This record gives sequence, structure tokens and C-alpha cells, in this order.
Amino acid sequence: MQDIKLNLPRLKGKIIAIDGPAGSGKSTTARMLADRLGYVYLDTGAMYRALTYFALKSDISPSDGTKLATVAEKVPIEFETHQDVNKVFINGEDVTAQIRTPHVTRNVSEVSAHKEVRQAMVVKQRDMGKKGSIVAEGRDTSTVVFPNADVKIYLSASVRERASRRLLDLTKMGVSTTLEEQEAEIKRRDELDSNRQHSPLKKAPGAFTVDTTDMTIEGQVEFIISLIRRVLK
Ligand code: DC
Repeated sequence: MQDIKLNLPRLKGKIIAIDGPAGSGKSTTARMLADRLGYVYLDTGAMYRALTYFALKSDISPSDGTKLATVAEKVPIEFETHQDVNKVFINGEDVTAQIRTPHVTRNVSEVSAHKEVRQAMVVKQRDMGKKGSIVAEGRDTSTVVFPNADVKIYLSASVRERASRRLLDLTKMGVSTTLEEQEAEIKRRDELDSNRQHSPLKKAPGAFTVDTTDMTIEGQVEFIISLIRRVLK
């Protein structure tokens, strides 16, 4: 394996932004990439999920954009990375496992569609990225949060492949589900995330598309590193 850390002077302080639909492999790829580069990993989806978890627990409706935005502004969301695990905290509570449950997943698209919620989150995300040396991933990191990112990637994969990845993850978590259910859920979220009014998922100008359908995670990371080397040479 090539050691990207050899090129550190050239890579210092850069912003890498990775967007793509649910199950395209963004989280694992971004985390591994950040590790290879010695960068911070920013999982923006986890922030929307943490807010959704908090709202459901506090009886705040996913349709109440004003209340949700107040929570997003006032309640701290923090990350701690320990080797392979990216822990997420909201209001000091470790919600790493809770934010991946089907209940949160079903509600997160509605929560994240509110303009005022997105505005509050973008402020937090830009603040986390202000020193650079960050790999951010989500739906709008390359279009809205960091439109001047040094390298932009759009990850994609077929619905079938993304659904089988989700099935594997959920089965490992002990959740009982089927490939058909996951395909339906992925299609539902694609539709909501791509067609919403504010910051819909789309490919940023200048982004590289990487179709991961037939790639391994390691292959994806190596491929993106080769793109980064090419762009930042
Ligand atoms: O990547 P994920 O599945 O953890 O994201 C969860 C949801 O959060 C996704 O359905 C849409 C929303 N999201 C968003 O609107 N903007 C982002 N930058 C990241 C995620």
C-alpha cells in the first residue's frame, strides 16, 4: 500500500468533500481516508441523525423546523474518534448506536429537509472545518458547506448494491430486515434527499464521480487517494 503521509506538506490544511446517496460507502471511505491523511473526519449525516434522535426522544415533531433549528443551534453535537469507531454525542450523551436504528433512519430525511435546520448545521460544520485538514461527507458538503473544497467526490452505486450493504450493516446490529425492505428504504431516501427544496443531493461542479458498485472499500480509498494526488500535485 502506498503511504500518502509521505506527501504531507502538500496536503496540509486541505478540505476533501465527499457526497453521495445512502449506502454509497461514504462513511467508511471518508473515515479511512481521513486516517490515511491524518485528517479529521466529519460525518455530517451523523449530525442530522443525532438531532433526529434527540427530537424523537424529546417529543419534538420531525415537521417542526423552528423547534428543531433551535435545538440544532443550542445543543452541542460532538465527535470522538477512537481507532475505527467514530463516536457521536448530543448534549453529552453517546448516541453512536442509537442514531443508526431504523426509527431514526425513517425520520432523518424529514428533519434534515428544513431550511432553518440546515442553516444551523452548516454553521457548526464550517466551524469544524475552519482549520482545514478535514474529510467531510454527506449530501451537501461539496455544494453548500464547503463549495471551495480542494477535492470534491461524488460517490454512487446501484440501488441493489447499496441495499445489500445496508442489509449487512443492520444484520450485524441485530436488526431483522430484508433486501427488498432495504431497497425500498434506499429509494425512498434517494427521492427525498435529491428532490427536497433546500440543499438537495447533487453532484458539485468539478466533482469526480466514483461508482463504487464493483469496488471494495480498500479499492475506493486507493482510487480516491490517486485522484487527490492528481489534483493536489
Ligand atoms: O449519510 P446518512 O445516511 O447517515 O445521512 C442521514 C440523512 O441525513 C440523509 O438521509 C440525509 C441527511 N443528510 C443531509 O441532509 N445532509 C448531509 N450533509 C448529510 C446527511
